[in-house]
Amino acid sequence: MNKRFLSYLLLAFCLSALADVNYQVIPLPQQISFDKSGGYMLLTEGMTVGYPSGNQQMRRNAEFAAEYLNLSLKEKGDGKKGADINLTLGLKSSNPDDYAINVGKKGITIQGASESGVFYGIQTLRKSIMNERGEIRLPYAWICGSPRFSYRGTELDCARHFFPVSFIKKFIDILALHGINRFHWHLTDDQGWRFEVKALPELAQKASIRPCTIVGKNVGLSDPDNAIYDDTPETGYYTQEELREVVAYAAERYITIIPEIDLPGHMIAALSVYPDLGCTGGPYKVWGIWGIADDVLCAGNPKTLEFLKTVYGELCDVFPSKLIHIGGDESPRVRWKACPKCQAKMKELGLTKEAELQTYINKEMEAFLSKRGRQIIGWDETLEGGLSENAAVMSWRGYEGGKAAAKLHHQVVMTPTSNCYIDYYQLKDQRAQPLAIGGYLPLSKVYAMEPVPDGLAPEEAKYIIGAQCNLWTEYVLSPDHAEYMLLPRLAAMSEVQWLKPEAKSYEQFLERLPALEQVYRRLGYKYCTTHE
Ligand code: ACM
Ligand code: ZN
Repeated sequence: MNKRFLSYLLLAFCLSALADVNYQVIPLPQQISFDKSGGYMLLTEGMTVGYPSGNQQMRRNAEFAAEYLNLSLKEKGDGKKGADINLTLGLKSSNPDDYAINVGKKGITIQGASESGVFYGIQTLRKSIMNERGEIRLPYAWICGSPRFSYRGTELDCARHFFPVSFIKKFIDILALHGINRFHWHLTDDQGWRFEVKALPELAQKASIRPCTIVGKNVGLSDPDNAIYDDTPETGYYTQEELREVVAYAAERYITIIPEIDLPGHMIAALSVYPDLGCTGGPYKVWGIWGIADDVLCAGNPKTLEFLKTVYGELCDVFPSKLIHIGGDESPRVRWKACPKCQAKMKELGLTKEAELQTYINKEMEAFLSKRGRQIIGWDETLEGGLSENAAVMSWRGYEGGKAAAKLHHQVVMTPTSNCYIDYYQLKDQRAQPLAIGGYLPLSKVYAMEPVPDGLAPEEAKYIIGAQCNLWTEYVLSPDHAEYMLLPRLAAMSEVQWLKPEAKSYEQFLERLPALEQVYRRLGYKYCTTHE
């Protein structure tokens, strides 16, 4: 080998081993300004992360930073000096999630408007660095971030398929990586009850067991008794002890868990052990098919409210979230129309439509939960019989329900099927993907979502508090499969949640995505590698 060729090789090696960080992560920071000096800091082993003494959340933040970046911890009094990366509070901003990172001669400072802001700054630094290899150079710069919405959610259905606590923690880590701060946890449905209620032990012991599940798709099922079922029971529930552990795990990552017990429909699993609570009295079996069941809780039976208050009482003991999800979707009223108890209740209350019976239950639950300092949120069907006083609305059948609720000055989370249902196929060619519920929601369409619809006055638009993706799991059987459905569509959603419309660009997002995918690979996350 001649000398010249050797020096070429050496130069090529040095260039590939020296990585300059550009801070252009997902979600994109609001501002990235490089220092004119062109100086940079080298990230090296043995560097330290400092945090103000006496603040447990900041200590935990420092532990995260040290763990992500492979550094050591250094406690100190003033939070300003003494370490290579200093975590500090005091950023002047009314949004607690805002952060600013300063990379300069004296090291790195990550300042938050609160502890959560510091956490998001750490995530940005982590994502900036984790896709790099070799020696890492951090150019002197000022980087700041500020999320557009306070509610940045993702829903996971653990009723149709059960996901173990180990995966739930991984899922929470995935949310944290994307700056998402609400985990809407769908815990019960016709096909399985996953929440331990100590006063009603049969829910966990029996209603969590689905003996068999229909094979393949059940579209337009006319005769479920003659469908083909597997012989694999789907089982599992979360004990209250496990749930408390998960709540704490999420809280350390600034994620609030909003539990959902879906009422008055999607209740067949509960009815299978408490058939009295149904209008016909049953018998009922935990459903092995998918779809919308006619059997729902009887609105005229006083035991129904007793049951719900027991369940939600324990739910509040476990989950500290202010918002509690009461479901409310896809609850047919055919049984109520034919049920003497329901009809008598309507007469007693002077109601003219069955939909108002659902509002009656919602109002009872709202009163019960507000005594515990909680607020209800429900799917947009809750608008049909009239919203209860302080109910928030999750708009899923489109934007219209959310728009109507915002006009009535109710808080709204936008999650329309058109842009947010990540149980849909993500590629046009369905054969290239595992079986899904249907639909087509490519990455570009998630990215294109605008949570605030046209036609709202600024005063009304304020009631749109955020957006979320939903992962229903009728056809999602494993953690790997769930990750594949989530990623990278969650990355697109995170920019919907964080960026103002004028800062969004799908083309630039696609240019930044490979770096995040490198982070996914390093963390062992499955993801869809084709983007449409
Ligand atoms: C829903 O997708 N049924 C809320
Ligand atoms: Zn009834």
